[in-house]
Amino acid sequence: MHVVTGATGALGRLVVEKLLDRVPASEVRATGRRPEALDDLVGSGVDVCRADYDDPASLRSAFAGADRVLFVSGNEVGKRLDQHQAVVDALAEARVGLVAYTSILNATTSDIVLAREHAATERMLADAGVPHVLLRNGWYLENFTMSLADQVDHGMIGASGAGRIAAATRADYAEAAAVVLTGAGTTAGEVFELGGPGFTRAELVAHIGRCAGRPVSYTDLSEQALTEPLLASGVPDHLARLIADSDRGAAAGWLDAGDDLERLLGRPAEPWTDFIAAAVRSALDTAA
Ligand SMILES: NC(=O)c1ccc[n+]([C@@H]2O[C@H](COP(=O)([O-])OP(=O)(O)OC[C@H]3O[C@@H](n4cnc5c(N)ncnc54)[C@H](OP(=O)(O)O)[C@@H]3O)[C@@H](O)[C@H]2O)c1
Repeated sequence: MHVVTGATGALGRLVVEKLLDRVPASEVRATGRRPEALDDLVGSGVDVCRADYDDPASLRSAFAGADRVLFVSGNEVGKRLDQHQAVVDALAEARVGLVAYTSILNATTSDIVLAREHAATERMLADAGVPHVLLRNGWYLENFTMSLADQVDHGMIGASGAGRIAAATRADYAEAAAVVLTGAGTTAGEVFELGGPGFTRAELVAHIGRCAGRPVSYTDLSEQALTEPLLASGVPDHLARLIADSDRGAAAGWLDAGDDLERLLGRPAEPWTDFIAAAVRSALDTAA
């Protein structure tokens, strides 16, 4: 049985779909804290089950009989140490054969604040003796498509300098997770630093400008200076600080990756240039 946690989220859902390309639906269990959001999978033969990181009993049921589990990191930054410890305890108790955890690039060496809970979770898995592999995912390309129309009109701000950001699509990370989860050759202890070829912000902005048919500016700011306009535009305080901190970390190279993603996929990751071009077209069409 292949179990996916966080299957109500964007990445987990895609992993369930990629698993269904590889194994029978009867060998897939999709779990989440809102199982009603997974109802549509029941008809296709997928086992759906509640698994709430704040409810240890639900985790024990969800992992019963599991051979391989994709453990998707939670999205409540600041609460994840207790939540993830509960997941790890349940995985250990269920004696799951192999767990793949969605971590962050360079989790144990990165000084990005977001890496702390991931590094701690990696330690929890090791300390509990859970056989596991680490999917240290880079940024999603989707992170860079949320304000495209505004960026075309007003330019982009950031703090990542000349740092390379090895972003890839969620679909590619999901496929890599399914490959690892179903692979006969996957060995506990493997660490995958996952990302696409990536770009600097200057390269990204130049490409957005080419796609939009007009130049787009990029202003590189300090971490502190980036926080202020984010706050002014209504981004909540803790999120603005995390975004600015992560961009500073990108400038230091913590969000760059090698070719592990391409090796797992057995093909190049979807080119960021194609993905961004389609997103610019869609954003400008919507704005028109
Ligand atoms: N690489 C990146 O660029 C990037 C960006 C953002 C996040 N992330 C990390 O990658 C993870 C997956 O990304 P995503 O895009 O799929 O995020 P997402 O759409 O926010 O999905 C997060 C999933 O975690 C579940 N979850 C959170 N707290 C939980 C709990 N207490 N018990 C059970 N499930 C819980 C969510 O459940 P609900 O649906 O009920 O909320 C959801 O299914 C995120 O959670 C975050 O750790 C990475």
